[in-house]
Amino acid sequence: MRPLIFPLLLLAALPAQAATVAEASSPDGKLKVELDLSNEGRLAYRVLRNGEPLVGDSRLGFILRNGRQLLRGLTLETQSSRSFDETWEQPWGERRFVRNHYNELRARIAESNHDRRRFDVVVRVFDDGVGFRYEFPKQPAMDEVQISEELTEFAIAKPATAWWIPAYEWNREEYLYGRTPLAEVGMAQTPITLRTDDGIHLTLHEAALVDYAGMNLAKADGGALRASLTPGSPAKVVRRTPFTTPWRTIQIADRAGGLVESDLILNLNEPNALGDVSWFKPSKYVGVWWAMHLDQQSWATGPKHGATTENTKRHIDFAAKYGFRGVLVEGWNTGWDGDWFANGWDFDFSKPTPDYDLQGLAAYAKSKGVHLIGHHETGCAVSHYERQMAASFALFQRLGIDAVKTGYVCDAGQIERQDRPGDPVVREWHESQYMSNHHLRVVQAAAKHHVAINAHEPIKDTGLRRTYPNWISREGARGQEFNAWGNPPNPPEHEPNLIFTRMLAGPMDFTPGVLSLQGRGQPLQSTLARQLALYVVLYSPIQMAADLPENYAEHMDAFQFIRDVPVDWSETHVLNGEVGDFATLVRKDRNSEAWYLGSVTDENARTLEMSLSFLSPKHRYVAEIYRDGDGAHYKDKPFAFVRETRVVTHADTLTLRLGAGGGAAIRFVPNR
Ligand code: NOJ
Ligand code: CA
Repeated sequence: MRPLIFPLLLLAALPAQAATVAEASSPDGKLKVELDLSNEGRLAYRVLRNGEPLVGDSRLGFILRNGRQLLRGLTLETQSSRSFDETWEQPWGERRFVRNHYNELRARIAESNHDRRRFDVVVRVFDDGVGFRYEFPKQPAMDEVQISEELTEFAIAKPATAWWIPAYEWNREEYLYGRTPLAEVGMAQTPITLRTDDGIHLTLHEAALVDYAGMNLAKADGGALRASLTPGSPAKVVRRTPFTTPWRTIQIADRAGGLVESDLILNLNEPNALGDVSWFKPSKYVGVWWAMHLDQQSWATGPKHGATTENTKRHIDFAAKYGFRGVLVEGWNTGWDGDWFANGWDFDFSKPTPDYDLQGLAAYAKSKGVHLIGHHETGCAVSHYERQMAASFALFQRLGIDAVKTGYVCDAGQIERQDRPGDPVVREWHESQYMSNHHLRVVQAAAKHHVAINAHEPIKDTGLRRTYPNWISREGARGQEFNAWGNPPNPPEHEPNLIFTRMLAGPMDFTPGVLSLQGRGQPLQSTLARQLALYVVLYSPIQMAADLPENYAEHMDAFQFIRDVPVDWSETHVLNGEVGDFATLVRKDRNSEAWYLGSVTDENARTLEMSLSFLSPKHRYVAEIYRDGDGAHYKDKPFAFVRETRVVTHADTLTLRLGAGGGAAIRFVPNR
């Protein structure tokens, strides 16, 4: 017996040694991912860029609740690779055609002893980053898998600055972005964006979050960021083999704008599962909404009730007159009276309040070419909602209501789940495995009735709009509403932060266009021109003109841009930008030859010079410029505003002066 123990002890005393067992490179050869196995059979990956480590040795594995951990004693059983290059078309989006080009490595990992449990690590290396996931094949030794923790790490190999919001805090995703050294990142949500001290930009996130817990990132020993899956019961994730995890993604770019131009998240999602979705029309909307946030009107019935027949007619008339397709009406259904924040179980999603003539208004809207937009605030009573949603979607379909804003207002971790009527209610997090399935149940039930979904207080976006193109937008960050009542309101750096963080996940229903620049007793931290720029820099296939009709009447010159700006694009490019500081985006209208430019800055005024070479050389363009006027400043001169036109060509250079907290919006129309 003795001789056996001795070599084992010796082995344990040796420093861990790792050998690269498999690798894959990006199509352009710049990025390389290597898989390593240590002499103890621990699995790790690393990412090299131009031969230099960008993500150092980062471990892979799981802690299971109903089985031994999958962490040590692993071996490589087989490996295979393939290349893929395909261009697909988005039904709507920031660009029409998307190239999906990668090299893939599939490594079959097996335990060296015990039950020889197996999983695959699948790595896709793109020119703009890396995605990898675990795939568990069906196997006798693993039927149900209860995951206590996924041990995936991201060991960024260089000092870096990070932009991030905290995870597991009560206000869910609605936090201001912090900027800290990477070493000071706490428990963070994704997307989290990093810039290494030598100027490489990275964003860590996930793609295709289906039937799994959302991933946050925590600091691990040695400074790496480690997955922290959202809690659930009896484990964070419970699945049966075969199954796959979501993709863990690392977008990589030289320029900050390269992150925004990356389609990696969408490319890692499955193709459209709904077929023809031309019934969804990208469009703009107005609503019975901002007045509630200003506390001029209420969701509850009574003297301040916003969702009255008369008030809704006024909004339909306004929409028809100025060319908006949608009218959102919140507080239209019963259940808002009393403390709806605390109780979602009273909501009836098919029963209008007595002062709201749903049928009559839907017919009135139709006669004017307008569509009501439905609202389903669940107050987090999600099981109550699931029991009613199909009937409500069917009702809406009959009434020409083809988009619904959903809502999940409650503190983090307070989603109320009740699997059968009478069962005790159990609490879930907004990003738990249960909620990843809930949202897909909603989206699929809505699709059956040709209804599109815009979720507020949602689960994070992981690109599922590719598979379910009726999941059109969501909130999932601090939106305009914080400018009504937020303490503090959104500071000028907020949108330059969002563009390079939250917006990388997907469309946001930010609800721009508050031209009064006035919240509830507090001013917006924005110039007038900046409100217009938001329609271009923050992408969503539905965009609200959030302000009150009477406020637009005071700013008809600026309002013209909101009327003109499209919401569906054939191309998108980032002309310049730095995370949290400023950004200029240009997008080409999908339905015309026109281009649109939006530019925003933080609390610093700046002058930006940019080439117009994105314009077609075939045309001369009239540039309708909406910009900050002399001395514009979000604090004391927010209404300094100029609207002017110039004729320009692709050979021109444009100089834009943005005031502090300012912005600019430009429409380029071919001059015929
Ligand atoms: C929060 C949403 O973000 C907001 O837009 C909505 O008005 C309220 N919840 C009420 O549902
Ligand atoms: Ca919200």
